[in-house]
Amino acid sequence: MTVHFIGAGPGAPDLLTLRGRDLIAASPVCLYAGSLVPEGVLAHCPPGARIVNTAALSLDEIIAEIAAADAEGKDVARLHSGDLSIWSAMGEQLRRLRALGIPYTVTPGVPSFSAAAAALEAELTLPGLAQTVVLTRTAGRASAMPEGEKLAAFAATGAVLAIHLSIHLLDKVIAELTPHYGADCPVAIVWRASWPDQRIVRTTLATLDAAVGAEMERTALILVGRTLGSADFDESRLYAADYDRRYRPVGAAPRFPEET
Ligand SMILES: C[S@@+](CC[C@H](N)C(=O)[O-])C[C@H]1O[C@@H](n2cnc3c(N)ncnc32)[C@H](O)[C@@H]1O
Repeated sequence: MTVHFIGAGPGAPDLLTLRGRDLIAASPVCLYAGSLVPEGVLAHCPPGARIVNTAALSLDEIIAEIAAADAEGKDVARLHSGDLSIWSAMGEQLRRLRALGIPYTVTPGVPSFSAAAAALEAELTLPGLAQTVVLTRTAGRASAMPEGEKLAAFAATGAVLAIHLSIHLLDKVIAELTPHYGADCPVAIVWRASWPDQRIVRTTLATLDAAVGAEMERTALILVGRTLGSADFDESRLYAADYDRRYRPVGAAPRFPEET
Protein backbone atom coordinates (compact mmCIF):
# COMPACT_ATOMS: atom_id res chain seq x y z
CA MET A 1 0.00 0.00 0.00
CA THR A 2 1.28 3.46 -0.91
CA VAL A 3 -0.07 7.00 -0.57
CA HIS A 4 0.56 8.93 -3.77
CA PHE A 5 0.71 12.70 -3.20
CA ILE A 6 -0.14 14.28 -6.55
CA GLY A 7 -0.07 17.90 -7.65
CA ALA A 8 -3.47 18.25 -9.30
CA GLY A 9 -2.64 21.44 -11.20
CA PRO A 10 -4.30 24.86 -11.30
CA GLY A 11 -7.79 23.80 -12.31
CA ALA A 12 -8.05 22.54 -15.89
CA PRO A 13 -8.35 18.75 -15.64
CA ASP A 14 -5.87 18.27 -18.50
CA LEU A 15 -3.14 20.29 -16.75
CA LEU A 16 -2.13 17.17 -14.86
CA THR A 17 1.00 15.07 -15.44
CA LEU A 18 0.56 11.69 -17.13
CA ARG A 19 2.10 10.10 -14.04
CA GLY A 20 -0.43 11.84 -11.82
CA ARG A 21 -3.33 10.77 -14.02
CA ASP A 22 -2.14 7.14 -14.08
CA LEU A 23 -1.65 7.02 -10.30
CA ILE A 24 -5.16 8.39 -9.73
CA ALA A 25 -6.54 5.78 -12.13
CA ALA A 26 -4.73 2.99 -10.27
CA SER A 27 -5.72 4.04 -6.72
CA PRO A 28 -8.95 2.68 -5.19
CA VAL A 29 -9.04 5.58 -2.69
CA CYS A 30 -8.82 9.29 -3.56
CA LEU A 31 -8.56 12.08 -1.00
CA TYR A 32 -8.76 15.52 -2.57
CA ALA A 33 -8.56 19.08 -1.25
CA GLY A 34 -11.96 20.11 -2.59
CA SER A 35 -11.61 23.84 -2.01
CA LEU A 36 -9.32 24.10 -5.06
CA VAL A 37 -9.03 20.72 -6.80
CA PRO A 38 -11.58 20.65 -9.63
CA GLU A 39 -14.09 17.82 -9.81
CA GLY A 40 -12.98 17.16 -13.39
CA VAL A 41 -9.71 15.66 -12.14
CA LEU A 42 -11.74 13.07 -10.23
CA ALA A 43 -12.95 11.65 -13.55
CA HIS A 44 -9.64 9.76 -13.62
CA CYS A 45 -10.57 7.74 -10.50
CA PRO A 46 -11.39 4.08 -11.18
CA PRO A 47 -15.03 2.96 -11.03
CA GLY A 48 -16.11 2.31 -7.45
CA ALA A 49 -13.26 4.32 -5.91
CA ARG A 50 -13.79 5.78 -2.46
CA ILE A 51 -13.57 9.54 -3.11
CA VAL A 52 -13.32 11.85 -0.10
CA ASN A 53 -13.29 15.65 -0.11
CA THR A 54 -10.92 16.58 2.71
CA ALA A 55 -11.82 20.30 2.72
CA ALA A 56 -13.81 19.92 5.94
CA LEU A 57 -11.56 17.33 7.64
CA SER A 58 -8.90 17.88 10.30
CA LEU A 59 -5.38 16.51 9.91
CA ASP A 60 -6.25 13.72 12.36
CA GLU A 61 -9.30 12.77 10.27
CA ILE A 62 -7.27 12.77 7.05
CA ILE A 63 -4.64 10.51 8.59
CA ALA A 64 -7.42 8.25 9.89
CA GLU A 65 -8.71 7.89 6.31
CA ILE A 66 -5.22 6.96 5.14
CA ALA A 67 -4.72 4.52 8.03
CA ALA A 68 -8.03 2.83 7.15
CA ALA A 69 -6.93 2.41 3.52
CA ASP A 70 -3.57 1.10 4.76
CA ALA A 71 -5.37 -1.51 6.89
CA GLU A 72 -7.21 -2.68 3.75
CA GLY A 73 -4.05 -2.63 1.65
CA LYS A 74 -5.51 0.00 -0.72
CA ASP A 75 -3.39 2.63 -2.46
CA VAL A 76 -4.44 6.25 -1.92
CA ALA A 77 -4.23 9.13 -4.41
CA ARG A 78 -3.87 12.32 -2.32
CA LEU A 79 -4.61 15.40 -4.45
CA HIS A 80 -3.65 18.98 -3.70
CA SER A 81 -4.01 21.93 -6.05
CA GLY A 82 -1.17 23.19 -8.20
CA ASP A 83 2.20 21.83 -7.13
CA LEU A 84 2.85 20.18 -3.79
CA SER A 85 5.94 22.19 -2.95
CA ILE A 86 4.03 25.35 -2.01
CA TRP A 87 1.14 25.80 0.45
CA SER A 88 -0.14 22.25 0.13
CA ALA A 89 0.06 21.11 3.79
CA MET A 90 1.86 18.04 2.44
CA GLY A 91 4.77 18.43 4.88
CA GLU A 92 2.71 17.72 7.98
CA GLN A 93 1.03 14.72 6.34
CA LEU A 94 4.37 13.22 5.29
CA ARG A 95 5.67 13.62 8.83
CA ARG A 96 2.67 11.68 10.20
CA LEU A 97 3.06 8.96 7.55
CA ARG A 98 6.75 8.57 8.32
CA ALA A 99 5.89 8.14 12.00
CA LEU A 100 3.29 5.49 11.09
CA GLY A 101 5.61 3.71 8.66
CA ILE A 102 3.18 4.21 5.74
CA PRO A 103 4.98 4.51 2.39
CA TYR A 104 4.33 7.41 0.02
CA THR A 105 5.41 8.94 -3.29
CA VAL A 106 5.33 12.57 -4.46
CA THR A 107 4.36 13.62 -8.01
CA PRO A 108 4.69 17.29 -8.96
CA GLY A 109 1.95 19.37 -10.55
CA VAL A 110 1.59 22.57 -12.58
CA PRO A 111 1.69 25.44 -10.07
CA SER A 112 -0.84 28.25 -10.31
CA PHE A 113 1.84 30.87 -10.95
CA SER A 114 2.85 28.98 -14.13
CA ALA A 115 -0.76 28.74 -15.25
CA ALA A 116 -1.23 32.45 -14.57
CA ALA A 117 1.92 33.35 -16.54
CA ALA A 118 0.71 31.17 -19.42
CA ALA A 119 -2.68 32.91 -19.35
CA LEU A 120 -0.82 36.22 -19.62
CA GLU A 121 1.44 34.78 -22.35
CA ALA A 122 4.27 36.16 -20.23
CA GLU A 123 7.89 35.28 -19.63
CA LEU A 124 8.36 36.59 -16.11
CA THR A 125 12.14 36.83 -16.34
CA LEU A 126 13.24 39.16 -19.12
CA PRO A 127 16.86 40.20 -19.70
CA GLY A 128 17.66 43.57 -18.17
CA LEU A 129 14.33 43.85 -16.31
CA ALA A 130 14.05 41.01 -13.82
CA GLN A 131 15.77 37.66 -13.38
CA THR A 132 14.05 36.49 -10.21
CA VAL A 133 10.50 35.45 -9.38
CA VAL A 134 9.46 35.35 -5.73
CA LEU A 135 6.56 33.04 -4.83
CA THR A 136 5.11 34.57 -1.71
CA ARG A 137 1.97 35.47 0.23
CA THR A 138 0.79 37.81 2.94
CA ALA A 139 -0.02 36.67 6.47
CA GLY A 140 -3.33 34.86 6.88
CA ARG A 141 -5.48 33.99 9.88
CA ALA A 142 -3.88 30.54 10.06
CA SER A 143 -0.36 31.47 8.91
CA ALA A 144 1.86 34.25 10.18
CA MET A 145 4.74 35.42 7.99
CA PRO A 146 8.20 34.84 9.44
CA GLU A 147 10.06 38.04 10.28
CA GLY A 148 12.16 38.96 7.25
CA GLU A 149 9.61 37.67 4.71
CA LYS A 150 7.56 40.84 4.51
CA LEU A 151 6.45 41.95 1.03
CA ALA A 152 8.51 45.11 1.32
CA ALA A 153 11.68 43.06 1.85
CA PHE A 154 11.16 41.19 -1.42
CA ALA A 155 10.06 44.36 -3.18
CA ALA A 156 13.37 45.98 -2.29
CA THR A 157 15.06 43.51 -4.67
CA GLY A 158 12.94 44.53 -7.69
CA ALA A 159 12.11 40.89 -8.42
CA VAL A 160 8.80 39.87 -9.96
CA LEU A 161 6.42 38.91 -7.16
CA ALA A 162 3.79 36.18 -7.51
CA ILE A 163 1.61 36.90 -4.50
CA HIS A 164 -0.71 34.09 -3.45
CA LEU A 165 -3.56 33.98 -0.95
CA SER A 166 -3.78 37.78 -0.82
CA ILE A 167 -6.44 39.05 -3.22
CA HIS A 168 -8.48 40.24 -0.21
CA LEU A 169 -5.57 42.40 1.00
CA LEU A 170 -4.97 44.69 -1.97
CA ASP A 171 -4.58 47.77 0.27
CA LYS A 172 -1.67 46.15 2.06
CA VAL A 173 -0.06 44.98 -1.20
CA ILE A 174 -0.30 48.46 -2.72
CA ALA A 175 1.02 50.21 0.40
CA GLU A 176 4.02 47.90 0.81
CA LEU A 177 5.02 47.71 -2.85
CA THR A 178 4.48 51.21 -4.21
CA PRO A 179 7.51 52.79 -2.47
CA HIS A 180 9.78 50.22 -4.14
CA TYR A 181 8.26 49.62 -7.59
CA GLY A 182 6.59 52.99 -8.20
CA ALA A 183 2.87 53.59 -8.74
CA ASP A 184 3.17 52.94 -12.49
CA CYS A 185 4.54 49.41 -12.02
CA PRO A 186 2.53 46.84 -14.01
CA VAL A 187 0.32 44.41 -12.10
CA ALA A 188 -1.67 41.47 -13.45
CA ILE A 189 -4.41 39.65 -11.59
CA VAL A 190 -5.28 36.21 -12.87
CA TRP A 191 -8.43 34.83 -11.31
CA ARG A 192 -9.04 31.09 -11.60
CA ALA A 193 -6.20 30.55 -14.08
CA SER A 194 -7.04 27.72 -16.52
CA TRP A 195 -10.64 27.39 -15.27
CA PRO A 196 -13.40 27.92 -17.88
CA ASP A 197 -14.30 31.26 -16.24
CA GLN A 198 -10.68 32.49 -15.95
CA ARG A 199 -10.35 36.29 -15.82
CA ILE A 200 -7.38 38.59 -16.30
CA VAL A 201 -6.98 42.17 -15.17
CA ARG A 202 -3.95 44.16 -16.29
CA THR A 203 -3.38 47.33 -14.32
CA THR A 204 -0.76 49.20 -12.28
CA LEU A 205 -0.14 49.61 -8.56
CA ALA A 206 -1.84 53.03 -8.79
CA THR A 207 -5.08 51.64 -10.24
CA LEU A 208 -5.06 48.13 -8.79
CA ASP A 209 -7.68 48.65 -6.10
CA ALA A 210 -10.28 50.03 -8.50
CA ALA A 211 -9.52 47.46 -11.22
CA VAL A 212 -10.37 44.31 -9.28
CA GLY A 213 -14.02 43.40 -8.87
CA ALA A 214 -15.34 42.05 -5.57
CA GLU A 215 -16.32 38.84 -7.38
CA MET A 216 -12.63 38.05 -8.05
CA GLU A 217 -12.05 36.60 -4.60
CA ARG A 218 -9.97 33.72 -3.22
CA THR A 219 -8.52 31.86 -6.22
CA ALA A 220 -6.50 34.67 -7.69
CA LEU A 221 -2.84 35.42 -8.13
CA ILE A 222 -1.33 38.91 -8.01
CA LEU A 223 1.72 39.31 -10.26
CA VAL A 224 3.76 42.49 -9.84
CA GLY A 225 6.86 43.51 -11.74
CA ARG A 226 8.42 45.43 -14.59
CA THR A 227 8.45 42.44 -16.95
CA LEU A 228 4.66 42.26 -17.10
CA GLY A 229 3.57 43.59 -20.45
CA SER A 230 6.85 45.29 -21.25
CA ALA A 231 8.14 45.15 -24.82
CA ASP A 232 11.24 47.09 -23.84
CA PHE A 233 13.79 44.44 -22.87
CA ASP A 234 17.09 43.08 -24.15
CA GLU A 235 17.33 39.93 -26.26
CA SER A 236 19.07 37.10 -24.44
CA ARG A 237 22.77 36.66 -25.28
CA LEU A 238 22.23 32.90 -25.52
CA TYR A 239 20.69 33.13 -28.99
CA ALA A 240 22.79 36.05 -30.25
CA ALA A 241 24.43 35.20 -33.60
CA ASP A 242 27.92 36.01 -32.27
CA TYR A 243 27.56 34.15 -28.95
CA ASP A 244 30.02 31.25 -28.87
CA ARG A 245 28.49 28.30 -27.03
CA ARG A 246 28.80 24.56 -26.72
CA TYR A 247 25.95 23.73 -29.09
CA ARG A 248 26.80 26.44 -31.66
CA PRO A 249 30.56 27.13 -31.80
CA VAL A 250 31.34 30.52 -33.34
CA GLY A 251 34.60 32.07 -34.59
CA ALA A 252 38.08 30.82 -35.41
CA ALA A 253 38.84 29.60 -31.89
CA PRO A 254 35.57 28.48 -30.31
CA ARG A 255 35.47 27.96 -26.57
CA PHE A 256 33.96 24.48 -27.05
CA PRO A 257 35.49 23.09 -30.29
CA GLU A 258 33.31 20.54 -32.10
CA GLU A 259 34.61 17.01 -31.65
CA THR A 260 35.59 15.33 -34.90
C1 LIG B 1 -3.33 27.14 -0.80
S1 LIG B 1 -2.57 27.97 -2.12
C2 LIG B 1 -2.18 26.60 -3.16
C3 LIG B 1 -1.07 26.88 -4.13
C4 LIG B 1 -0.80 25.70 -5.04
N1 LIG B 1 -0.15 24.63 -4.30
C5 LIG B 1 0.06 26.07 -6.24
O1 LIG B 1 0.99 25.32 -6.58
O2 LIG B 1 -0.22 27.07 -6.88
C6 LIG B 1 -3.94 28.72 -2.90
C7 LIG B 1 -3.60 30.01 -3.61
O3 LIG B 1 -2.94 29.70 -4.83
C8 LIG B 1 -3.41 30.58 -5.84
N2 LIG B 1 -4.12 29.78 -6.85
C9 LIG B 1 -4.37 28.46 -6.83
N3 LIG B 1 -4.99 28.05 -7.97
C10 LIG B 1 -5.13 29.17 -8.71
C11 LIG B 1 -5.67 29.43 -10.00
N4 LIG B 1 -6.18 28.46 -10.75
N5 LIG B 1 -5.64 30.71 -10.45
C12 LIG B 1 -5.10 31.70 -9.73
N6 LIG B 1 -4.57 31.51 -8.50
C13 LIG B 1 -4.59 30.27 -8.01
C14 LIG B 1 -4.30 31.61 -5.18
O4 LIG B 1 -3.51 32.72 -4.79
C15 LIG B 1 -4.80 30.84 -3.98
O5 LIG B 1 -5.15 31.74 -2.94
